[in-house]
Amino acid sequence: MRNQQATQLLFELSRPGRRAARMPACDVPKADLGELLPEQHRAKRPLPLPELAEPDIVRHFTNLSTLNMSVDTHFYPLGSCTMKYNPKRNERLASLAGIAGLHPYQPDATVQGMLQLLYELERMLGEIAGLEAVSLQPAAGAHGELTALMVAAAYFRELGQQRTKVLVPDSAHGTNPASAAMAGFDVVTVKSTATGYVDQADLVDKLDEHVAVFMITNPSTLGMFERRIGPIAEAVHAKGGLIYLDGANMNAILGITRPGDFGADMMHYNPHKTFSGPHGGGGPGAGPIAVTAALAPYLPGPRIYRDEDGAFSLVDAGPRSIGRVRSFFGNVGVLVRAYCYILTHGPDGLRQIAENAVLNANYVLSQLKDVVDVPQGERCMHEFVASAARLKAEKGVSAMDVAKRLLDFGFHAPTVYFPLIVPEALMIEPTETESKETLDEFVAALRQVLDEQVDTLKEAPHTTMCSRPNEVQAARQPVVSWS
Ligand SMILES: Cc1ncc(COP(=O)(O)O)c(C=O)c1O
Repeated sequence: MRNQQATQLLFELSRPGRRAARMPACDVPKADLGELLPEQHRAKRPLPLPELAEPDIVRHFTNLSTLNMSVDTHFYPLGSCTMKYNPKRNERLASLAGIAGLHPYQPDATVQGMLQLLYELERMLGEIAGLEAVSLQPAAGAHGELTALMVAAAYFRELGQQRTKVLVPDSAHGTNPASAAMAGFDVVTVKSTATGYVDQADLVDKLDEHVAVFMITNPSTLGMFERRIGPIAEAVHAKGGLIYLDGANMNAILGITRPGDFGADMMHYNPHKTFSGPHGGGGPGAGPIAVTAALAPYLPGPRIYRDEDGAFSLVDAGPRSIGRVRSFFGNVGVLVRAYCYILTHGPDGLRQIAENAVLNANYVLSQLKDVVDVPQGERCMHEFVASAARLKAEKGVSAMDVAKRLLDFGFHAPTVYFPLIVPEALMIEPTETESKETLDEFVAALRQVLDEQVDTLKEAPHTTMCSRPNEVQAARQPVVSWS
């Protein structure tokens, strides 16, 4: 029953004449459609909408919602694009009528509370980053990258410098080179050493007066803190370039160290990772950026201004600004959640979040390192990258097989095949929100999976609604309509 109502389309469940609600006969004059909608835009025959009773509709959607894994139902050790638990307190506050019911076209005088919240959030994010100015406009981490690189381009344009290149380590998230290319730069890859750090010799070799920005993720996507970030930043600055810090992994260093203090000139946050905002289905997210005072004039506008009497207004960002990168103030719902999260925890709490995220990841690593290879080390920050390369060579079992089989044990699969420099990568990030019991269950499941028969793994998952969809076809030829 459950499966039928979840797997059949509403159109297939439809029965002629069934209704969820019956409307009373119309007792007001009918509107003249001619004025509202020109003839050519009107349907020629009634739309073939599904006809169902209310319980069938409710069950259909409720059952559908249970077929997927979610952070509210399952442990979700997805590295890099991490989804940590979203506290319900934040959801409740963000949906207060005075917040969710605001219209972005309201006059500033009627949205003082929201402007104050966003103004304070800018200051908080600036303080956590150790950087002077913040823009909340970008709608995702990748959008933050693009915005900051456009800011850098405007800065160098004004200086009259022809800087055409952006350097990106080979362990970087794919959005880094993509953003650099979209901002009009040539992307130059910098190698990593065998131990996973930036290959400084390769970096120095590629550094010249045409380099605008070195983009670095610290802690990196390998879950390692680049300890030589100080000398690296000095080398880039000495050539007149800027350091961009991909702050997606701020979760691991919150309240412990600040990008601005270790040489970053600009950075983005991923509030969905660091400050527990939701990120389902690719958004709506937020990717606030923080920059040095020298780059502040180029930030997107309008800016939030507080006058001497404490009144807030939106003001034009001035002629040096790159202009708007998104409508209104950004994705306010996510920003409100980040604000609540930061205020709830306070400075000491944020530091504890980072410490627990690192502790949890190291605990899982310590429980698994006798059964999986972790090429980059004994210790990690918030995540670590295991390799199933030996398993593949010895038994023909791939990282994908392991990830798929974990679904049968009720665990969302880790990120696989990223970073690209680790063969058969399995990237595991438990986050600070998980208990020791949950981590122990995950470890036990993964150890069991690694010990299973090859056939069991090759055919996994066995318990999910859909086993192994053709991912390439699903991405390239999605069928999203019913006919
Ligand atoms: C290291 C890193 N950089 C950039 C991004 C891109 O962020 P978003 O998915 O918000 O665009 C991610 C994804 O979470 C990431 O893990």
